[in-house]
Amino acid sequence: MTTTQSLIIDTDPGQDDAVAILLALASPEINLLGITTVAGNVPLALTEVNARKICDLGGRQDVPVFAGLSRPLVRDLVTAEHVHGRTGLDGPDLPPPATKLQDQHAVDFIIDTVRAEPEGSVTIAPIGPLSNIAMALQRAPDIAPRVRQIVLMGGGCFEGGNITPAAEFNIYVDPHAAAVVFAAGIPITMMPLDVTHKALTTARRNEALRALGNRTGQAVAEMLGFFERFDEAKYGSDGGPLHDPCTIAWMLAPEIFSGRHCNVEIETASELTMGMTVIDWWQVTGRKHNAFVVGDLDADAFFELITTRLARLP
Ligand code: RIB
Ligand code: CA
Repeated sequence: MTTTQSLIIDTDPGQDDAVAILLALASPEINLLGITTVAGNVPLALTEVNARKICDLGGRQDVPVFAGLSRPLVRDLVTAEHVHGRTGLDGPDLPPPATKLQDQHAVDFIIDTVRAEPEGSVTIAPIGPLSNIAMALQRAPDIAPRVRQIVLMGGGCFEGGNITPAAEFNIYVDPHAAAVVFAAGIPITMMPLDVTHKALTTARRNEALRALGNRTGQAVAEMLGFFERFDEAKYGSDGGPLHDPCTIAWMLAPEIFSGRHCNVEIETASELTMGMTVIDWWQVTGRKHNAFVVGDLDADAFFELITTRLARLP
C-alpha cells in the first residue's frame, strides 16, 4: 500500500503549471490539500481563474483554490504574457471556471494547514514566484520545521537565466522571497532550467497527449502547442521546456532525476544579476548545503509518466 504524500501546490498558471497540477490530480500517491495562486506569468486575477479552470478540466472541483499575493514582497510585478499569452493559459478555449475560489487568503491557508497537519507531513511545491511561501514563513516562522520539504521549479545553474541573462523567471520576479525560502532551513529540492530545458515537448510527445482521446489530452496538447512556440523560436529547439511538472514527477518517480546537494544563494542587490541563483555545484565555497539541485532527467520516462497519468483524467 503506497503512502500518500500531502501536498500544497503554489502556482501562477501558466500552461506548464497546468500540466503539473493535472499530473498531481491524476496521481493517487498525492493527497492535494489545496492550490494556492500567486501573481507571476500573468496577474493574480488571471492565475486564480486559470487554476480553477484546470481543476474543472481535471474533473476535480473538490480541490480548494486560494488567491494569494498580487505582487512580489519588494519589487514591482513582472509578468510573462509574451510566453503564456494574454490569459496565461492560451491554447485551448476553456469555459469560465465552476470550481469556486475560497475566501481564505492563500498565505493563511498555508500557515493553518501546515500547523494543522501532522508535523513533517506536508510538501509544498512552488511553481511560480515564491511570494506566498516567503510571506507565510515571515508571518509564521513556527511552520518552517513542520514542513516536510519544498519541491520548487526555479533558478538556473550552468543554463543561466531565461528572463535575464542571469535569472530564471520565478526567482527573478520575487528574489527577496526566494532568499527567504532558501534561508528557511526547510529541505528543498530545486528544479532549475538545467533540468527543465532537457524536458522538451517535442511534436511526437505532444501528439501522444492529443492521441489520449480525452478532453485533458486535447486541451494539454493545445496548451503546449501555444506555449512551446516562444522557446522554439528563442532556442531553435524541437519543442519547449516543460518546467513545472518536473516537481510533481520528482515526487512520483525520483529515480528518473539526478542531482546533488549544493549551497544556493540568491542575488538581491545587483540589478545586473538580480534574481540569479548562485549555485555552488562544484562545492568551492564551503557554504552550507540548502538544496538538492537537480541537473538531469530521463526525458522519455518523464513524458511517459505524464502521458499515462493524464490518460486517467476525463
Ligand atoms: O521560468 C519558468 C517558470 O516561469 C515556470 O514556472 C513558468 O510557469 C513560469 O512561471
Ligand atoms: Ca509557473
